Amino acid sequence: MLRPMRETEEVGTAAPVAVNGDVVDVTDAPEVAVPDVAVTDRAVELAATDVTGVPETGVTDVTAVAETAVTDVTSVAETAVSDVTGAAEAAVTDVAGVTATDVTVADDAIERPWWRDAVVYQVYIRSFADANGDGIGDISGVRARLPYLAALGVDALWFNPWYPSPLADAGYDISDYRSIDPAFGTIWEAEQLIAEARTLGIRTIVDIVPNHVSIEHPWFQEALASPPGSPARERFWLRPGTGTAGELPPNGWQSIFGGQAWTRVADGEWYLHLFAPEQPDLNWEDPEVWAEHEDILRFWFERGVAGVRIDSAALLVKDPGLPEEVPNPGPGEHPFTDRDELHYIYRRWRTIADSYDEPRLLVGEVWLPDAERFARYLRPDELHTAFNFDFLACPWEPGPMLASIKSALAAHAPVDAPATWVLSNHDVTRPVTRYGRVDTRFAFEAKREGTPTDLVRGARRARAAALLAMALPGSMYIYQGDELGLPEAENIPTDRRQDPMWRRSGGVDPGRDGCRVPIPWSGAKPPYGFSPNDEAPLWLDQPDDWAPLSVEAQTDDPASMLSLYRTGLRIRRDAPWGVDSELRWLDYGDDVIAFARGERFICIVNFGPQPIELPVEADVLVGSAELVGNVVPQDTSVWLIQTLDRASFDPESIRT
Ligand code: GLC
Ligand code: CA
Repeated sequence: MLRPMRETEEVGTAAPVAVNGDVVDVTDAPEVAVPDVAVTDRAVELAATDVTGVPETGVTDVTAVAETAVTDVTSVAETAVSDVTGAAEAAVTDVAGVTATDVTVADDAIERPWWRDAVVYQVYIRSFADANGDGIGDISGVRARLPYLAALGVDALWFNPWYPSPLADAGYDISDYRSIDPAFGTIWEAEQLIAEARTLGIRTIVDIVPNHVSIEHPWFQEALASPPGSPARERFWLRPGTGTAGELPPNGWQSIFGGQAWTRVADGEWYLHLFAPEQPDLNWEDPEVWAEHEDILRFWFERGVAGVRIDSAALLVKDPGLPEEVPNPGPGEHPFTDRDELHYIYRRWRTIADSYDEPRLLVGEVWLPDAERFARYLRPDELHTAFNFDFLACPWEPGPMLASIKSALAAHAPVDAPATWVLSNHDVTRPVTRYGRVDTRFAFEAKREGTPTDLVRGARRARAAALLAMALPGSMYIYQGDELGLPEAENIPTDRRQDPMWRRSGGVDPGRDGCRVPIPWSGAKPPYGFSPNDEAPLWLDQPDDWAPLSVEAQTDDPASMLSLYRTGLRIRRDAPWGVDSELRWLDYGDDVIAFARGERFICIVNFGPQPIELPVEADVLVGSAELVGNVVPQDTSVWLIQTLDRASFDPESIRT
């Protein structure tokens, strides 16, 4: 889902658990806020069809939550054992039993399931690496580049949709959820990739799109061929129009991509599409829609994926009365965003995810300005994590950045979910470009393409932002190409632009093609090693000045963005802050964000022109820019390790 961000509110703690109006204490379970729901009868009925973990009424069943918490610990313990393969094997072969070291490792892992601090690399497969020379990235290309990803030091890969699609929205219009688009490869290759990545310690997350399908999906084709009122039409929002002869849409809802959210079919009914007309919205009032998506989840979980990223996760449920939007709706009162009934869906999905020996991960794309409403999706029996879009959209300014970080940490704490630190993705302007503008915010409605941009300054800030994101507690997302410092490709000729955001806005919105350009691997000119075929027509052209940004050009340059990412991630992996360390804010003035984690780790980010003196009793682990004269210059982050207790922690060992 793509929604413009508004100012975030500071949040305190989540509401205490209330059952039938009474506040109860759920011992040891994180506080869980009840969806104060006006649940439709239909949703209650649907929820009640599953006895496990799903409340039968609008009130959260506290017992079920407590049970979930217990189950979680057990399953996490199982994960821990399978995770530390070496330790587990040692325990099996060692007749004397598990050694003290084994126990310690497993205990640490129990406290910190992998996803709580994972570095997830987003693979936009069409633009990652082309192996067969047709100019389109593919699974073989990713398999060949797995060593690159392992060397980068990431824990998981999230793949944007790789399913068959007519590409009305770059693959977010899916015609078959259980298959791979032939342009990318086959299911067999996907399974190979998942397994190979795992042997390198890298897990796989796939994109699930439950809000809408492609117009070419068999369900929509069947709906079109079926009469009004038929079960096939029930799966979508097909409705008669208004006006004297149904010539007007059922209501005035607008598409997120621009224009009205309804399109008329041959027999006169209209169907809802919150995005492009080629993406009809599913009707989550229909039990078949629930069953189908649960089956899709199992399909991918059984192929070894570690989790799913849920597209447009806060949009699935609509008010069946289809009322008009009103300004400033109350919580849960918007007709198609953040409806309370959504939580029933995700509780069921969590039950499925938890049913595997290694529980699967649910990551939500939840764009919501209200941090408390956002955190509801992360309650212990719902999604594990969600993208932190407030941080992504935040301007490069110390005040808003600090407020955003504090707000995220405060919102996540009551539900005991890790925050995520996201600087960009396939929908937004690349940080190097955005941070190089006068106004460094990201906003869909104001992308400022073509406005004056200082890319040197932008890159410097993007480096500082990367180290900041890596140092914060929680998990981190890296969009492919950000580790190379790619700028937004801003000069794509209009006849080459593909994004429906550009087309449907009549060119007012530049669209998202500029962050989706194939990445440069090597060589002096396009396709920069992206394809083995130098003549391959790429689906989006690469700028002709990207040679210095290629992986090859950056690999051996210690000052490159790639080297910074590799170094930062390597140090991060060693957790110089220790296990589950608390973050403490340090005061270096208004132009600086500084914090300590654990006993000795310190991160200082200087946004202002005044250089900041480094603390004396500390060694530099890494800096985002050269540090001359023991000071941190403007737009620079440094990581330090306090050297007071060298005996038990040697920073030198981290550098090697
Ligand atoms: C999500 C995706 C975006 C897509 C939209 C519709 O916001 O990130 O790329 O266009 O959903 O599926
Ligand atoms: Ca290809």
